[in-house]
Amino acid sequence: MRLRAESLTKTFGRKQRPGKPGLQVRAVDSVNVSVNAGDFVTIVGESGSGKSTLARMMLGLITPDEGRVSIGGVSIAGTSRKEQFKFRSAVQAVLQDPSGSLNPRKTVRTALAEVARLHGVATNRSDIDAKVRETLSLVGLTPAGTYLDRYPHELSGGQRQRVLIARALIPGPKIIVADEAVSALDVSVKSGILSLMCDLQKRLGIGYLFITHDLTVVKKVADYVYVMQNGRVVEEATPAELFTNPQHDCTRSLLNARLELDDVLQERYTNHEQGPPALSVGH
Ligand SMILES: Nc1ncnc2c1ncn2[C@@H]1O[C@H](COP(=O)(O)OP(=O)(O)O)[C@@H](O)[C@H]1O
Ligand SMILES: [Mg+2]
Repeated sequence: MRLRAESLTKTFGRKQRPGKPGLQVRAVDSVNVSVNAGDFVTIVGESGSGKSTLARMMLGLITPDEGRVSIGGVSIAGTSRKEQFKFRSAVQAVLQDPSGSLNPRKTVRTALAEVARLHGVATNRSDIDAKVRETLSLVGLTPAGTYLDRYPHELSGGQRQRVLIARALIPGPKIIVADEAVSALDVSVKSGILSLMCDLQKRLGIGYLFITHDLTVVKKVADYVYVMQNGRVVEEATPAELFTNPQHDCTRSLLNARLELDDVLQERYTNHEQGPPALSVGH
């Protein structure tokens, strides 16, 4: 099963008004990318390079001006509602949390059961409940019973992100499009979520289209990397090639930004090694 974008183009713009030229942004410009089930494919690029617009087109949420998105060779545009529904089950989204993605008024149980019902994964109450519990365990929220009746604000950022992953897993997707899914999280939480995603890749054969502006994430987990700049894919390679022999200036500057970040972390770490200043103990 392969999710594929061919020559995708999307332009946003204001209409021209008398005396004022129309302002057009070619957010995505003739982009070709693909991801197979079981592969960890990454898209990196600076902010504004068109990553989210590409993701939204690949999820079928917005329509491209040109080009096509297909899954398993079937184009998603102009297909029947039934086909579109199948597409939505096969390709799921996990987006950046900052709480917007989960309804604050719904418990974990309600949010997940709704998806199970909608996608016809299970029909009767006890099957739905079993599916919800099983999926929570799969994303490391165990024992599942502890989390079922919690509202989003009763969860940590990392736990909320796990619930979002669970929600994406319920329809039984082949591919997950993750747009900056770990960017807002602390380093330690981030690595926990990443290792969960890798674990699901191995156990369930899920493929990822993992979008990030942060190259540190890419090095360890990606099978293949696309680099975007100004709406275009300017370089693509395996991480090994990309890190040793970057071809494009944009890739080099993303790599340099990463090195600077490493320096900062290193410095903090070194300072920490020296230990905190001695506490003055009262006499
Ligand atoms: N709905 C929209 N209307 C107008 N311009 C948009 C819209 N969405 C994105 N853009 C513009 O398209 C470009 C790419 O944005 P985006 O896809 O969000 O990039 P990224 O996710 O890489 O930061 C930016 O210049 C952005 O301002
Ligand atoms: Mg974005």
